[in-house]
Amino acid sequence: MYQPYILKYDDDSLEPEISKKTVEIHYHRHYLNYLKNLNEILRKNNYFFQYPKEELFENIDIFPEADRNTILFHLGGVVNHELYFSSMNKNKNLKIPEPLHSHLIEKFGNIENFMNQFLERASSLQGSGYTFLAVKPNQELFLLNLPNQESPYLYQMQPILAIDVWEHAYYLDYYNNRKKYIEEFLKLINFTEVNRKYQEILKKEK
Ligand SMILES: [Fe+2]
Repeated sequence: MYQPYILKYDDDSLEPEISKKTVEIHYHRHYLNYLKNLNEILRKNNYFFQYPKEELFENIDIFPEADRNTILFHLGGVVNHELYFSSMNKNKNLKIPEPLHSHLIEKFGNIENFMNQFLERASSLQGSGYTFLAVKPNQELFLLNLPNQESPYLYQMQPILAIDVWEHAYYLDYYNNRKKYIEEFLKLINFTEVNRKYQEILKKEK
């Protein structure tokens, strides 16, 4: 069985940007439900849980074709939510460590421009989905939107930061004002964690 990602903060730690009620519903109900459904369908398929979750995307053909889309949906739901929850912290520390800081400037010109492009990209997403900062196989940093529970791993990219823009992520706090939610999310980004993930990828690719 895949085990749940444990939040690194209390349910009320992200207030006022993200309310306790939203974290309660989002983490304890939505996320844990994706995990429960994923484990159930994998068990039904006699899966041995031999891959880390992130590697299951590229090994999806071990399952019968009829179950692949359902597995990918719940797997994406688990992996995307874990990335989203780990992308935030309560310290509201916007200082970006190296090497991420330099590489963001290299790619986007400056940090303000990166933030603006992230905001624009996430605001332009139609329907439900996520905006990711991901690393391409050539190590280039890249912003992309994906619908529903699709993951960058499906496209040979490794995500290091994500915002969930399904309505359940913000509706209780911001109603239909998605742009305001994205602006507030940008204040919560845990760049220490994003940089840690980035360094791990750079190390692996060497
Ligand atoms: Fe969500």
